[in-house]
Amino acid sequence: MARARSLPRYRRSPFLVIYWRAGALLVHNYATGGVATVPPRTAELLDFFADWHTASEFADRTAVPLPAVRRLLKTMANASLLQSSDAPRSVREKAMARWEAWNPAAGFFHTATRDVRFIDPVEGQRALRRKAQTVALPARVKRYRDAWSRDLPRVRAVGEFPRVLLSRRTWRQFARSPITLDALATLLGLTGGIHQWAAVRGQGDFPFKTSPSGGARHPIEIYVWARRVDGLAPGLYHYRADRHSLERLRAHRRPVSVKRYMPTQSWYEGAAAIVFFSSVYARYQWKYTYARAYRATLIEAGHQCQTFCLVATWLGLAPFCTMALADSQIERDLGLDGVSESVLYAAGVGVRPRGDAVRSKPAGSPPLRMRPNRRVVDPSPNSRSS
Ligand SMILES: Cc1cc2nc3c(=O)[nH]c(=O)nc-3n(C[C@H](O)[C@H](O)[C@H](O)COP(=O)(O)O)c2cc1C
Repeated sequence: MARARSLPRYRRSPFLVIYWRAGALLVHNYATGGVATVPPRTAELLDFFADWHTASEFADRTAVPLPAVRRLLKTMANASLLQSSDAPRSVREKAMARWEAWNPAAGFFHTATRDVRFIDPVEGQRALRRKAQTVALPARVKRYRDAWSRDLPRVRAVGEFPRVLLSRRTWRQFARSPITLDALATLLGLTGGIHQWAAVRGQGDFPFKTSPSGGARHPIEIYVWARRVDGLAPGLYHYRADRHSLERLRAHRRPVSVKRYMPTQSWYEGAAAIVFFSSVYARYQWKYTYARAYRATLIEAGHQCQTFCLVATWLGLAPFCTMALADSQIERDLGLDGVSESVLYAAGVGVRPRGDAVRSKPAGSPPLRMRPNRRVVDPSPNSRSS
């Protein structure tokens, strides 16, 4: 009797999505990322294991021999499709349980799009050129052929604000010199610093930043990877948005290659500082209990990233942004579980190399040939045009 009690019991993970891909039936645990190809009758097994059961309880109900059931259950538990009574619950499953009504739509999208394999950029460009020979690119601009239309007066880009907007570009070459701590502070303060608080009746104080935020929840956190910043040791830091300070999480005593966090992005090796934008989902989930709100967290990261790039342009630095991230690696080093808080986006900055030209292409590639579209912006802002 005592022996029977120690037998492992199994229960279906509450975070499973089942779908077919290329003819194969897949069961995907969207909390842990575990995926297994299974035969269709597995759905019946998973249905049975809605509550805790032993292998023999399942074998007794079916014609499947007990050793085969045990093997199958073990395999499924290893792929995290079943929880086992003799193993601790995974941290990710515990965190995913707090996503509640956001699941399964948001939870599945969140993990199914993480940690993807990026192809070699040179090979990627080659593949795109080949594709363009057989598959036409979609139109770059939408138009309504038969609609009434009129040309608008060209934009008179006078003053600092349009100058900064129009000169923002993605830079992929940098000088080796460090950026100043003042510049980093300005970037962080104007991008993610809380510059005002407002008291909301019955809910306490809410932060306000230069970017808008749904319900002023501000789910975005900023982490700094300092590489060459005057007066700041290389390493990973958290930007404390209310105090405008940096909290050190990890010192980098030896240089860390960009490849560690951004595989295939070697052109950003010269960046002096890189910031990771993460989202603390609970801030949104507390108010917005439906999956659509997940989209808003992505949008918020975009707002802040654009602000970062514009501030860097205004400071005369060379900004960039990238989504080619090694999600789990970054999160491990920052101490995030990837579910209650996960990295979404990165931006970086370096000192501009000598010369006037924007360096959008990695060193060694032919420069991007840009031509102005004079229909939008008046090239001589002091003359009024129509
Ligand atoms: C969501 C997003 C993801 C991007 N990811 C990458 C990336 O992985 N690597 C990269 O070098 N640039 C990346 N970029 C930069 C774009 O390549 C760049 O914005 C585009 O070529 C237009 O050039 P511009 O920024 O100078 O206007 C990304 C931009 C955005 C908005």
